[in-house]
Amino acid sequence: MRTRYKVVIAGCGPRGEFHAEGFLKNKDRFELTACCDLDVERLQAFGNRFGVSDRYTDAETMLDRERPDIFCFATLPAIRLPLVELGVKYGVKAIAFEKPMATELTEAREIYDLCQRAGVKFIVSHQQKYGPHWREAKKIVQNGDIGEVTKIHATSRAWLSQLGTHLLDYMLWFNDRKKVRWVTGQAFGTQMLTDSHPSPDFVFGTIQFANGVRGIIECGAHAPRLIPGDNVLRSPNFWFDSSITVHGTHGYTEVVTGTGWRAITKDSAGKLLSGEGAFDPLRDQPLYLNDLADWMDGLTDSHPCDGDITYHGFEAAFGLCISALERRRVFLPLETVPKDSLIARFKAELPSSQEYLDQ
Ligand SMILES: NC(=O)c1ccc[n+]([C@@H]2O[C@H](COP(=O)([O-])OP(=O)(O)OC[C@H]3O[C@@H](n4cnc5c(N)ncnc54)[C@H](O)[C@@H]3O)[C@@H](O)[C@H]2O)c1
Repeated sequence: MRTRYKVVIAGCGPRGEFHAEGFLKNKDRFELTACCDLDVERLQAFGNRFGVSDRYTDAETMLDRERPDIFCFATLPAIRLPLVELGVKYGVKAIAFEKPMATELTEAREIYDLCQRAGVKFIVSHQQKYGPHWREAKKIVQNGDIGEVTKIHATSRAWLSQLGTHLLDYMLWFNDRKKVRWVTGQAFGTQMLTDSHPSPDFVFGTIQFANGVRGIIECGAHAPRLIPGDNVLRSPNFWFDSSITVHGTHGYTEVVTGTGWRAITKDSAGKLLSGEGAFDPLRDQPLYLNDLADWMDGLTDSHPCDGDITYHGFEAAFGLCISALERRRVFLPLETVPKDSLIARFKAELPSSQEYLDQ
């Protein structure tokens, strides 16, 4: 049976707007009844644009009055756990929110445990994998066109808390959600420790998956540039310059968020296959949200961006940080999640750098 779910959104910025577009493109599955932002001008513009009449400046008041099935919030990373707590308190069935899952591992763990205990489903917007170029690369891997997967290499010009959590999520997705056994990481650069998305400027590491596949991640300032041309810090190309390359026993396939996919497969006889692709949340967000409705309806037993894959990817991402801080291999799942702030430890321990160095 297909249910139509009542949705409210907090955070009326660009990402809140993409979520609204996504819900409204699935009108048979969702009804968007209310929106909320601290910024009244943004709130009114959003309400007018999407035809939402119930408008609030306080998320708790909205949840109390509206009693939605789904609480969606698209705020900056500083506010995650308090909003998840509100969703749970007001009995929502599902929470959809933005990456990164949290700014600290201990917060991510609390969110995961809280939702597990309350039986609340949650998804986090690592939705780039819905792009057709991502799906083409995934199909190549799934069909066995590159043989057995041996190695997955991930890169992004943006730092760990910006694009690193996307990368870990996509590595898990390409590896059929097989778990990470251990990670080793190195980290440096202090510029982004004070950003709204805090993490070291560059995190590099190895990731050993339980099925024998080896992952390599290069995330941030010294990652390779795969998109030529204007690609300086925070330019559009900078954000779209992230990639996954899956190597197999008989070939490889690579996807770059901003440009497309390519592959050499068993059957391509040395010929390079390729196709274009681009970052397009208007295309990807509706697919991602439609999958949420299917999952809530029990039509699927997981979601490609559900809490399990998100938390495991987040733990691996911050496992790399623990490895860098403690100079040791870190096994997952962590037996105990450190309660202290990893970002504060980096601030205290990393040699300070004056700029986000370009390679
Ligand atoms: N998934 C992706 O591809 C992707 C792409 C870009 C950004 N993002 C993520 O999206 C998130 C939001 O990005 P954005 O550009 O829309 O941010 P933004 O800062 O422009 O918008 C966030 C809005 O949330 C509001 N807000 C903050 N606290 C609130 C609260 N307690 N209640 C109600 N409203 C509140 C702010 O007033 C603001 O209008 C970030 O975490 C970012 O990393 C994801």
